Amino acid sequence: MTCFVGILFILLALSIIKIVVLSILFYADIRAAQKRDPAAKGFLEVLLLYPGLHALMWYRFAHIFYKIHFFFIARLLSQLARFFTGIEIHPGAQIGKRFFIDHGMGVVIGETAIIQDDVLLYQGVTLGGTGLEKGKRHPTVGNNVVIGGGAKILGNITIGDNSYIGANAVVIKDVPVNSTVVGVPGRITKQDGKKLDVILDHMHIVDPIMQNIEELEKRIDKLESK
Ligand SMILES: CC(C)(COP(=O)(O)OP(=O)(O)OC[C@H]1O[C@@H](n2cnc3c(N)ncnc32)[C@H](O)[C@@H]1OP(=O)(O)O)[C@@H](O)C(=O)NCCC(=O)NCCS
Repeated sequence: MTCFVGILFILLALSIIKIVVLSILFYADIRAAQKRDPAAKGFLEVLLLYPGLHALMWYRFAHIFYKIHFFFIARLLSQLARFFTGIEIHPGAQIGKRFFIDHGMGVVIGETAIIQDDVLLYQGVTLGGTGLEKGKRHPTVGNNVVIGGGAKILGNITIGDNSYIGANAVVIKDVPVNSTVVGVPGRITKQDGKKLDVILDHMHIVDPIMQNIEELEKRIDKLESK
């Protein structure tokens, strides 16, 4: 019995030490989450219950292993994080300070993605490649960028500082600083605080591939009728 109580006591002490160490190491990230999420009620709640923060913690350790070329361990940690949080951050990605993923489920961040400071991502965001290309093939996200739920940012493009990417937007071209981008494909609707003259047809979102196919069909019909 005393042995059992002793083990419990040691486990409790270890847990408290772990909480204290993680609070110190991730203080800035926890504060950033509290600032960015109006639903966050307290420091301990964010530390213990926010999957975005847990994924970031696993990533920070995995990235250390990636940097010293222990790729298997790095990838193992990243996959464990994915299992527990639903967030997949490749250990090779470079992530700046005070990064926060709200809700998190379904977020994918590719190997050569670069994320600068104070970036906020919502659930379902992909920072991915466009195909099977090698080298730098994922986006670079500037400081203080917010990327809405479900948005896909694809290819080696740059999202300028202080930009907003709307929920479900698909962005495949560079975005200048201080811009708001919405839609598929992503179009700039605001720049430097001024609304741009873009007509958004919310009922009929344009599919660029379908447009190309329709264009080709017309040309084939024309050739056939000659
Ligand atoms: C894009 C966004 C940042 C708003 O930016 P904003 O500058 O305040 O934009 P506005 O609300 O003035 O809208 C500008 C135009 O874009 C449209 N719009 C806004 N968000 C859009 C989106 N995600 N997709 C398509 N159109 C969008 C608006 O309807 C409006 O169109 P209109 O000018 O034809 O009326 C915001 O709508 C957004 O998508 N945020 C992401 C939030 C998110 O993912 N939350 C998840 C919480 S769980």
